Amino acid sequence: MKKLFIAGNWKSFKTLAEAKDWVAQFTNFISGISATPDKAMVLSVPFTLLSFVSGEIFRLKLPLQLGAENVSPLPEGAYTGEINAKQIKEFAEWVIIGHSERRKNFGETDATLVEKVKLAKAANLKVIFCVQDERTPVPDGIEVIAYEPPWAISAVSNWKTESPEAAGATCQIIKTAHPSALILYGGSTSPENIISFISQPAIEGVLSGGASLDSKKFAMMIRSAFVANL
Ligand code: PGA
Repeated sequence: MKKLFIAGNWKSFKTLAEAKDWVAQFTNFISGISATPDKAMVLSVPFTLLSFVSGEIFRLKLPLQLGAENVSPLPEGAYTGEINAKQIKEFAEWVIIGHSERRKNFGETDATLVEKVKLAKAANLKVIFCVQDERTPVPDGIEVIAYEPPWAISAVSNWKTESPEAAGATCQIIKTAHPSALILYGGSTSPENIISFISQPAIEGVLSGGASLDSKKFAMMIRSAFVANL
């Protein structure tokens, strides 16, 4: 059976009250589904919600691992407003680095991302590293690479995705270059299309933004992936 890694990314969405509702509903929707070393579910949330969600995962024994969506490229120090890797590690096991929204809106460069990865690894965080195509440089030591064509992200109005075959072909090139990493596809994935993506040999999971905001949709994606005979 294939390894599977289903990840969510809340981006800059959800207040504490909304996160409370999401967790309560997700707990019901995910009941009966467990995670194993080969089948993982990870949710990345805003910094403001890391403490709450990590407490709920522990309290409710949810089969979910927690991630942050960003990390400072600098260590602890006089860097007003930054959240460093050591601080994230208190709550989360994972961090997303290299998302195209951070490159585009916050000017993050390949060099900045290398620094972020170094500090994340030094703090024992595992990294979901986003690439925009097969040419995007990937720093060493990455556990999970998410291939996300920027034009396919948040195409919520039409759920315009890359075709599973085209995404699978790009993921195959990435997998060949980075055989020890798991390779995900991201860009408007949903309960309706997840199987078509993870059926591609080189696609080992998805990174979902919009659909992960809805606890039912995210749980449906996990459930259908985990019970599929791939
Ligand atoms: P989307 O986001 O599923 O809303 O397209 C994916 C991502 O940006 O990680």
